[in-house]
Amino acid sequence: MTIAEIQQEIMRMKKEQDVCILAHAYQSQDILEVADYMGDSYGLSVQASKSRCKNVIMCGVRFMAETCKVLSPQKRVWLANPIAGCPMAEQLDLEFLRALKQKYPDHAVVAYINTTSELKTECDVCVTSSSAVEICKKLDADKILFVPDPNLGHYVAEQIPEKEFAFYTGGCPRHMIVTPEHVRKAKELHPNALLLVHPECRQEVVAQADYVGSTTGIMNYAKNSECKEFIIGTENSIVEHLQFDCPDKQFYPLTVQLTCMNMKITTLMDIYNCLKGCGGEEIALPADIMEGAGRCIHRMVELGG
Ligand code: 13P
Ligand code: SF4
Repeated sequence: MTIAEIQQEIMRMKKEQDVCILAHAYQSQDILEVADYMGDSYGLSVQASKSRCKNVIMCGVRFMAETCKVLSPQKRVWLANPIAGCPMAEQLDLEFLRALKQKYPDHAVVAYINTTSELKTECDVCVTSSSAVEICKKLDADKILFVPDPNLGHYVAEQIPEKEFAFYTGGCPRHMIVTPEHVRKAKELHPNALLLVHPECRQEVVAQADYVGSTTGIMNYAKNSECKEFIIGTENSIVEHLQFDCPDKQFYPLTVQLTCMNMKITTLMDIYNCLKGCGGEEIALPADIMEGAGRCIHRMVELGG
């Protein structure tokens, strides 16, 4: 079958089976073309609960499918490719979190959404890159323990100087690859381009950016900007999508190394197989995790809306 034929078959099966396909912005173009919604982690979370479909296929990484299940317990939710995980989400386990909470007993615990559902059961609220500043500002706490990404944490802390922050030493292994040297070289090659970066990048990189935001934030900024050239400091699929959407503008990757293999593992055929009933993994979480993570995720939606 050709790609177009597989896409047609997916469109037919998803309608027949009442399936909504959600795709993170890091997914490939052929997947975005069959998706009902494409967005950043926050957009996906909200969209999951708004959708009227009985079934959801998540094209992204495991924590995104788990968030979707927690927000829509009555829906059947599949992760299109079961081995798609986020390494950052696995960095901090409950035991270590409990030790951190003992060290910072008077801090509210804010978890990046890139964490397991189990970890969320012992956090006060979770945040995404697009909602973190707003939620930490609104949170009724002067002291915040931000886990696991210290890069996003420091970016948030800078916007809210009136609050005190403590951090963990995790982070996204992909975005942390970017160095100021990559920035120097990219700016030298493209002196007229604006630098747009994700807050998971190191502080030294974020400090040089013209715009800092989530994947959707970066895409919207580039589309609405008068500028014609951009260096993109997040996963390289965003370069590809922007080039499709804005053929009259130029987009350059900050480094070729900014490729998330976990996000890239999902293919069009995974969706096809999932719909055929011979692929994907249906997300099932124990009742206590649904309840505990639900409290943390619902609070994010309440404060972030
Ligand atoms: P966004 O919320 O910006 O989509 O980020 C998710 C992510 O995993 C970035 O690496
Ligand atoms: Fe996780 Fe980083 Fe990949 Fe995002 S880019 S899914 S944070 S490993």
